[in-house]
Amino acid sequence: MSSEKSKPTVQTTGHAWDGDLQEFNNPLPTWWLWTFYATVVFAIIYWVLYPAWPVGGSYTKGMMNDITYTTADGKTKTTHWNTRALLLKEMQIAREEQAEYLKDINALSFEQIRSKPEKSAFANSMAKVLFADNCAACHQSGGDGVMGRYPNLLDDAWLWGGSFDKIQETIANGRTGSMPGFKASLSTKQISDVSDYVLSLSGNEADAAAVKRGQAIFSGQGGCAACHGADAKGQDFMGSANLTDKIWTIADVSGAETAAAKKEAVMNVVKNGKTRVMPAWKGRLSATEIKILTYYVHQLGGGK
Ligand code: HEC
Ligand code: HEC
Repeated sequence: MSSEKSKPTVQTTGHAWDGDLQEFNNPLPTWWLWTFYATVVFAIIYWVLYPAWPVGGSYTKGMMNDITYTTADGKTKTTHWNTRALLLKEMQIAREEQAEYLKDINALSFEQIRSKPEKSAFANSMAKVLFADNCAACHQSGGDGVMGRYPNLLDDAWLWGGSFDKIQETIANGRTGSMPGFKASLSTKQISDVSDYVLSLSGNEADAAAVKRGQAIFSGQGGCAACHGADAKGQDFMGSANLTDKIWTIADVSGAETAAAKKEAVMNVVKNGKTRVMPAWKGRLSATEIKILTYYVHQLGGGK
């Protein structure tokens, strides 16, 4: 066996201990060595430029330019370069930019905001936060509400009107929608008939004779027409629902599967009535915040 030949030729340091104990000499690869030198040079430059070494009770401050920034409470400070001051400076710039945007939002009309993509995007992103903090508890984070309790703001049916002005008024001053209960003033038969009439208005299945009797109650003894209008389309100054569309806010007709369940849903509202309160936000939110929310809600529901 020629084991001598197959042995790799390696360099040794040339020393021998205990007669035959030798030490290999494997030089470091050049790339490694240069990388190492580069890190040393980098570190030295870094020490000179940036805060680095502790000295006594203090530290070397570095040669970077000083940073001057203004805090949220308006105090101006100058300090040697450091990452904390850098962050405070960036926060100052963001605050100033936001203040600038808010000033624009205040000055522009809703239509002007809508025609400027950048302002519109700013208003929407700020509104999302405001909506999540103040409105989502009732109207849900997506704005789709809770049937019977909190109206859906995504559909284009508005109890109180869907223009910018009406929505702004709703949010600022709040609204109380009040549908009286009729179980004391109408018989169950009458409530049943008027409910058939209501269902027929949006194309639901209903008994023709009952619809006819119901119509008379609607515009006569029931007094329904006084609030919902003779055409039953609702009146937005009192938030009375439009009964002719397929959009329901209290009686869950669209969610009911059978004709009997739909009838039951309407009869319950007519029997028991319903009063719901949308709280006022004036005083709790600034005028600018209410304006931003108005812009957002208007567009959620394909405002008018
Ligand atoms: C405590 C629950 C609650 C909170 C919080 C709340 N709302 Fe309402 N909101 C209601 C109720 C209830 C109504 C329906 C009133 C009615 O029946 O007429 C309503 C109605 C509305 C309407 C009118 C919808 C229509 O069809 O005309 C708008 C717009 C609206 N809310 C926006 C908001 C915004 C924006 C916020 C957050 C600033 C908010 N709401 C917070 C309960 C709430
Ligand atoms: C004093 C005014 C008033 C009268 C009278 C009145 N309503 Fe209403 N009605 C309302 C208001 C306001 C609402 C919405 C309530 C709310 O949003 O909380 C409503 C809601 C309803 C709803 C629920 C609609 C939905 O989308 O879920 C039905 C159904 C209804 N009314 C039917 C009737 C019938 C039938 C009569 C007559 C027997 C009648 N109303 C009389 C004011 C009135």
